[in-house]
Amino acid sequence: MKIIKTTSLTRRTFAIYWRYTRRYLPEFLVASVGSGLAVIVQSMIPPYIVARIFSKLQYAYAHHQALHFSMFSGYFTWFAVLMLIGMVLWRVQSYFVWKLEENIRRDIANDIYDHLQAQSQRFHADRFGGALVSQTNKFLGSYERLMDDFIWTVIPSVTTIVAAIVILLLVSWPYALIMLAVVAVYLSLMSRRIVRQMPHNLALAQRESEQTATLADAITNMGTIRAFAGDRYESKRFRQYSGRQHAAYRKLSIEALKTDSLSHVQTNGFQIITLLGGLLAVTTYSLNVSLLYLLISYTQNIVNRLWEFSRLLRNTNRSLGDAAEMTEIFGIIPEVKDPTKPEKLAMRRGEVKFQDVAFAYPENQDDALFKGLSLKIKPGEKVGLVGPSGGGKTTITKLLLRFMDIEKGQISIDGQNIAAVKQSDLRSRVAYVSQEPILFHRSLAENIGYGDIGAEQAVIEAIAKKPTPTSSSASYRKVTKPWLANAALSSAAGSASGWRLPGRCSRTRRSWC
Ligand SMILES: Nc1ncnc2c1ncn2[C@@H]1O[C@H](COP(=O)(O)OP(=O)(O)OP(=O)(O)O)[C@@H](O)[C@H]1O
Ligand SMILES: [Mg+2]
Repeated sequence: MKIIKTTSLTRRTFAIYWRYTRRYLPEFLVASVGSGLAVIVQSMIPPYIVARIFSKLQYAYAHHQALHFSMFSGYFTWFAVLMLIGMVLWRVQSYFVWKLEENIRRDIANDIYDHLQAQSQRFHADRFGGALVSQTNKFLGSYERLMDDFIWTVIPSVTTIVAAIVILLLVSWPYALIMLAVVAVYLSLMSRRIVRQMPHNLALAQRESEQTATLADAITNMGTIRAFAGDRYESKRFRQYSGRQHAAYRKLSIEALKTDSLSHVQTNGFQIITLLGGLLAVTTYSLNVSLLYLLISYTQNIVNRLWEFSRLLRNTNRSLGDAAEMTEIFGIIPEVKDPTKPEKLAMRRGEVKFQDVAFAYPENQDDALFKGLSLKIKPGEKVGLVGPSGGGKTTITKLLLRFMDIEKGQISIDGQNIAAVKQSDLRSRVAYVSQEPILFHRSLAENIGYGDIGAEQAVIEAIAKKPTPTSSSASYRKVTKPWLANAALSSAAGSASGWRLPGRCSRTRRSWC
């Protein structure tokens, strides 16, 4: 069951990554083809040239010929030219890999941001910001590692193995067939390890996210922890999460050690057998020395690539485990959606109407918060909602801003159904001041200007100078650091704790109630 889940997640992760890679197909193709060509030029042809030199040397020794550099100068030139071409190919393809990855990292980051921003309040209430940040970073890092591995390990490995077997087929077909069988056995054994290891990578990624979330939660509430003397409790709590992460790491490391051991036994064993077989062939069947060199050289090439396969396995598993959580989030369709054909905003005067509204939080589906709620607020009218704690006052404001959708009835402003317009249009017409002060870690000017994004500096300054508990021109000028801004606005918002925050811009919006 677990395996089915991880394989489908893996497929979804690859599908998402491919969707982005496809956007930069030329870069991807140059990077991939360049890598394969560079391996052929720099690693596959040179051993063939060296084997030719050996062959010539052996012939010269056997026939007591005098040796001159000119006998080998042609080979030398070829060798040097190939190295040069290989170097140019690697550099060019590296440039395209960088270009591909930097573009895609930016695109994915932007899309994750938009996707998270489009999610409902419930989505964000159910998740901790620190965990989402960690999952975003892991998703980006995972793309980069997978792409690096594909271009710099998978392509060179496949090219090396295919090219070596083709050359060996021409040189000694029985040996080439043995080699093919060795590669097939190795890959089939190691593929089983991928499936075995994957759940452990996934578990570790989850434990890491939990640890990051706990850390971020504690850091953002450090003042509260101190005020409540919760230091020891928090420290113990954090250690529990670190302990879980440590345990997951331990389990994964044991699996990785088993994988590496299996790989090591196979690759080293095969190298020993090749040398032994080659030496026996030279001594018993007078095998040509240049052929022995070729066999050993290509075998070494293949074995090195196979050995890298185990590292590749570990990295791929780790990357897919890291990406899994964000892949799942990518699959979440926002609860509150914009209409497919949004109406043009017609709200001008501000008449609010709730007509026969029914709403229940999903946790309390059987016990609806509102049933048949009707309410009318005239333009400019000031209304105070009075009710017991938990009566639904805040929920009414959230429904008006369409943070959640109602189940029945209609909410309209100036006769226009709020569900018929784009959410951002609706919210741009409503000034909302929550019970808790909302502050960004940005300058005071930016915090004040947020009520009217794009407001001119002079307007912001004028508002800052208005007589409010904290906003004096002197304090505005001084307050340029985000934390000072937060301190200043916290006290302002705290004293307001209602519908309008003194000193926050609001040119286009109306304040309800
Ligand atoms: N995100 C949520 N998920 C589930 N239930 C919720 C959620 N938010 C509020 N509730 C529940 O809905 C009811 C109304 O909550 P609401 O916050 O609207 O009340 P309120 O009148 O504003 O209370 P207070 O005076 O304490 O601010 C409460 O029972 C509350 O527990
Ligand atoms: Mg409330």
